[in-house]
Amino acid sequence: MSKKEEKRLRVGILGCGPIAQAAHFESCTKARNADLYAICDVADDLRERMEWTHAPEKSYADYDAMLADDQLDAVIIATSDPFHVPASIKALNAGKHVLCEKPLGVTVEEVLELKDAVQRSGKTLQVGHMKRFDEGLQAAKRFIQNDMGQMLALKVWYCDSTHRYTMTDAVQPLMVSSAAKRKPAQDPKADMRRYLMLAHGCHLVDTARYFAGDIVSVNARLSERFGARCWFVETEFSNGTLGHMDLTVAVRMDWHEGFQIYGENGSILGKTYNPWYYKSSDVDIFHEKDGTTHRPLGADGHFYRRQVEAFADVILHGKPMTGANVDDGLESVKAMAAIARSAETGKPVALADITGGI
Ligand SMILES: NC(=O)c1ccc[n+]([C@@H]2O[C@H](COP(=O)([O-])OP(=O)(O)OC[C@H]3O[C@@H](n4cnc5c(N)ncnc54)[C@H](O)[C@@H]3O)[C@@H](O)[C@H]2O)c1
Repeated sequence: MSKKEEKRLRVGILGCGPIAQAAHFESCTKARNADLYAICDVADDLRERMEWTHAPEKSYADYDAMLADDQLDAVIIATSDPFHVPASIKALNAGKHVLCEKPLGVTVEEVLELKDAVQRSGKTLQVGHMKRFDEGLQAAKRFIQNDMGQMLALKVWYCDSTHRYTMTDAVQPLMVSSAAKRKPAQDPKADMRRYLMLAHGCHLVDTARYFAGDIVSVNARLSERFGARCWFVETEFSNGTLGHMDLTVAVRMDWHEGFQIYGENGSILGKTYNPWYYKSSDVDIFHEKDGTTHRPLGADGHFYRRQVEAFADVILHGKPMTGANVDDGLESVKAMAAIARSAETGKPVALADITGGI
């Protein structure tokens, strides 16, 4: 584990649910430039158990009380999706920086409101698209920026596996839940198309945007059979790249996630693992000039810790943001809404015309 630096961000985590338990508590504890300063959850049993396990300096049942703590620098919003925007706005208004779990929001309008709050506050907001901190994806991005020349085409796929819980149960710590946890008014799983788009589609869209930039329009088809759903999305990028995104839940095979990029001076083929293996993607970067393929090892596969460290570097040292910012979060919400709309109507949908929710 890398040594703790002298200057560290004091982070408070809102929500003690599965994502905090599996990723954020440990990430803050291990980060070279951040500390797990506080945790917060309305569910007393859950919060108390997490206090014992992760030993934050402070523990709060009430979010407003945590935000009133003047020792606190930043919050990680680790709650269910409909709470992301209101909790982020509250934190910004209290003068705290925000790392918000993905998706940034559930409607275009609420994310626009959040964007206003970010601008007014002058604070940093980063979206929890942790794949941007996968060393394999970062190597691919560097090749695209420095050596690849023009991008001809991009395919990105995110296919969850029927075997995912068998796999994750084997490697994750035991997840603790509470009957007293705060839940959204509507069961997020009541509409499975919407749930899967928000939970998984946002990763797919963000990876596509990370490599190829802004999406102009989408033309999506949805197939539903034997309980599986498959969205094939013809994707138009503003840089002229021909794009295809595939969201399938669940494939009858191993976790299947990756990307393929055809460029002027080379090509990239990436295989991404289920995140809970903490293994950087296998990314083969082929250089046309010398006919060789490079595959970085990416020994540090803790993208969640790397995400917190990069967030803290922006705030503490003014480093450029390498994660997804509020505009990336907004474009991702627009793209998901456009895919849903296009699949319903059978017509291409321009992101510029998108309003409403997913
Ligand atoms: N980046 C990833 O790989 C990844 C993976 C899984 C989940 N997620 C995201 O993480 C988020 C959280 O998921 P989860 O399964 O941990 O959620 P969850 O709903 O199970 O847990 C959230 C916890 O927050 C608490 N809470 C909510 N609002 C509160 C408030 N105002 N005050 C105090 N406590 C409050 C709840 O009581 C609950 O215990 C989701 O948005 C999900 O999309 C991201």
